Amino acid sequence: MSGAGNLIYLDFAATTPLDPQVAERMRDVQANAWFNPSSNHPGGRISTAVIKVAAGQLASLLNVNPATLIWTSGATEADNLAIMGTAKQREHRGKHLLTMRTEHKAVVDVFRALERRGFDVTWLEPEADGHLPIERFRAALREDTQLASIMHVNNETGAIQDIAAIGAVCKQHGVVFHVDGAQAAGKMPFDLTNLPVDLYSLTAHKFYGPKGVGALYVAEGTPLDPLMFGGGQQRRLRPGTLAVDLIAGLGEAAAVAAVSIERDLAHLTALREQLLAGIQNIEGLQINGPEQDGYPGILNVGVNDIEGESLLLALEPLCVATGSACNSQSQEPSYVLRALGRSDQQAQSAIRFSLGRPTTRKDIETAIKLYCRGVEKLRNLAPEAVA
Ligand SMILES: Cc1ncc(COP(=O)(O)O)c(C=O)c1O
Repeated sequence: MSGAGNLIYLDFAATTPLDPQVAERMRDVQANAWFNPSSNHPGGRISTAVIKVAAGQLASLLNVNPATLIWTSGATEADNLAIMGTAKQREHRGKHLLTMRTEHKAVVDVFRALERRGFDVTWLEPEADGHLPIERFRAALREDTQLASIMHVNNETGAIQDIAAIGAVCKQHGVVFHVDGAQAAGKMPFDLTNLPVDLYSLTAHKFYGPKGVGALYVAEGTPLDPLMFGGGQQRRLRPGTLAVDLIAGLGEAAAVAAVSIERDLAHLTALREQLLAGIQNIEGLQINGPEQDGYPGILNVGVNDIEGESLLLALEPLCVATGSACNSQSQEPSYVLRALGRSDQQAQSAIRFSLGRPTTRKDIETAIKLYCRGVEKLRNLAPEAVA
């Protein structure tokens, strides 16, 4: 699949194309339901009905009450609202917060900002395959712990955390539990009502919805302080005129996901196996993240003696990532892979392949060829660097 000339796009963890059904729904809403849902007239009521449909679609995917969903501009905003909003709300009870070193920047940088405001953050280390042992989590809890934020699926490695077990420990200790689900929502089946999770962030553009819209699930009875002030929309938790077409797109993407998740997972599992089989004989290849039980849409690999940025160029027209898209401007080795115990050199050689619904076996064949050839070419250019 390309969608843009001869590109071979294997960067679905960065973003996904709009599903055609989503695009159609958005066009319809843009033409016929562009009103302000807060307006108290028939036009406003048309847009309000659109929002209601979208909330129902997303609620049904997550198995939650639609009233628990707050629309945001994406997962970054949802993460900020969840973490800052809880920290502020519970500051008078204690200032200890828990998270992991391997979280996305949208979480890491919120905790860093809270540290500057006097909060005490424990940064938990993962195992070498990216997962967090529950005993390590339990041992880090303190009397004054107020909030834990642990991501569902890691965006660089595909490692899946056991949010059921972590959430259960949080419940026992009265700790609010937030999950960044940007890489899981719409891509893996789960049931939020039956998971001990208080806050869950998601974003539409990771599952074939539009960019610039997401949601925060706030379990009933979870107090939260707003970060923004303005009109009274969304119970004053996130004021501002609702982006009706984007929200409709998110809802439709959730409806598409609800019927395609299992098929998607089987498709991705087969493609990941094909990819791994095609490159695993490269000398010195390392898998960054879980070999078997991670999210099958992500395969992150490194080689001993090659620099990821040079490899990225050698791989064109393949679109893959060296780290997360948000960090790609930085030449620093990925802090996520460093936290997994990879050396600077190993982390710098990493390439993240992320596969999606439109990916074909042919795309993977080409990716295998380009990757094998690229590694060989760079090794030949710098033979003295080969270990
Ligand atoms: C795990 C994770 N959290 C948060 C985000 C931020 O999402 P958004 O770009 O929608 O704000 C991303 C996207 O890169 C992500 O992968």
